[in-house]
Amino acid sequence: MSANCERTVILRLSRTAARRRLEQEASPALGMRSTRLRLAGGLRLACSLTLVVALRGVGYGGPLSLPYAAPPERGTHEPLSSILLPVVEDGPQTQLGERLFHDPQLSHDNRQSCATCHPLDRGGMDGQPRALALDGLPRLRNTPTIFNVGLSFWFNWDGVVHTLEAHVERLLRNPAVMNTTWPELQGKLRREADYVSAFRAAYVDGLTWNNVIAALVSFERSLVTPQSRFDRYLRGEQQALTAEEQQGYDLFKSYGCIACHQGVNIGGNMFAKFGVFQPPTGASEEDVESGRYNVTHRPQDVQVFRVPSLRNVAMTAPYFHDGRAPTLAVAVDTMARVQLGKELTPEEIGLIVQFLQTLTGDYRGVPVRAPTPGAG
Ligand code: HEC
Ligand code: HEC
Repeated sequence: MSANCERTVILRLSRTAARRRLEQEASPALGMRSTRLRLAGGLRLACSLTLVVALRGVGYGGPLSLPYAAPPERGTHEPLSSILLPVVEDGPQTQLGERLFHDPQLSHDNRQSCATCHPLDRGGMDGQPRALALDGLPRLRNTPTIFNVGLSFWFNWDGVVHTLEAHVERLLRNPAVMNTTWPELQGKLRREADYVSAFRAAYVDGLTWNNVIAALVSFERSLVTPQSRFDRYLRGEQQALTAEEQQGYDLFKSYGCIACHQGVNIGGNMFAKFGVFQPPTGASEEDVESGRYNVTHRPQDVQVFRVPSLRNVAMTAPYFHDGRAPTLAVAVDTMARVQLGKELTPEEIGLIVQFLQTLTGDYRGVPVRAPTPGAG
């Protein structure tokens, strides 16, 4: 691996995730200067730009499940893949999960549901730089969209968990978010006879803590937005993107954004330092965020974050873990400078933003909308 390679990007992937991803995606179609490397075990990877792939077992446990990831489209040779159609998820577990998702009883003081911060009619996030903790202060990180979470490998900005089940359990117990316990929640849900019967209909063992979690996860997995113009383009509809949007996509590939924002979710499957070439500016004074370091406590993980998915990104301003970038243009400009060491022209930024706007999909036939006017 060249020294140039080693200097820059640090990706941490589990062995399995890395192998699968690289098998699927490391193809000459990456469309950029790429060096073929052969690692022990016959693992091949395209070292686009300058990447160090630290193949360490970071604890990925369960089998990888990507229920909606289409195999890379034949014939188009694109490094990204569309969401597989059709998406059908309306079983009793999912319906129960939908009800729980909107139920404020999940929070200790019955004040907020999942939908309070992840409204499905508005981007699946709250439009705030940082979400409010239960004490009313913006102490949480920027709320990621809930759409397409089932296609990501790691959750939260620091990737603290890698299954949706572990994620939900953590946040139900989190004193700053739902702050609940099983005895408390069971007491509330038991009082509603139709909840009890719905749990019985969905699960043989009825109303249990694990089934509350399973139902919520089942609903989360149904929240996919497969009909973006970009997905249609990947499925072969060349005219789904304008010439300028295609130019933006070409820049996204050739400048190397794709090295990190990759896979079916265009992100969500690896970690990278925020500030590879230079530290990003604009952190608020109280931002003492150290990212993945919070999880691993290793010095090299300071300011390392899970690379976010870019699906529906035009509808999820403001950007970054602390919401410091108010618009997509600012976010793209920052990314080019700090992740790639490049200064883009306003035209290039505009083209990439136009491409990113084609990643807006629809949920239940309605295009995903922004929570705040003027986003994107
Ligand atoms: C107070 C606002 C708030 C509420 C209520 C809330 N969330 Fe979140 N959610 C967030 C924030 C903020 C994050 C990012 C947390 C972090 O990185 O530290 C997040 C992250 C997530 C993620 C990970 C997304 C990703 O891409 O990594 C999922 C999944 C999720 N929430 C689902 C839920 C579910 C299910 C509920 C209800 C049980 C819920 N949330 C309730 C604010 C909220
Ligand atoms: C070295 C890996 C890497 C490269 C290359 C990279 N990004 Fe990112 N990107 C990240 C990480 C990590 C974050 C999260 C930063 C944070 O908030 O802490 C991010 C965040 C973003 C966001 C904000 C998403 C959100 O929901 O807040 C956008 C938009 C984005 N990147 C676009 C791009 C574009 C466009 C390019 C190419 C010009 C690019 N990125 C190149 C790693 C990368």
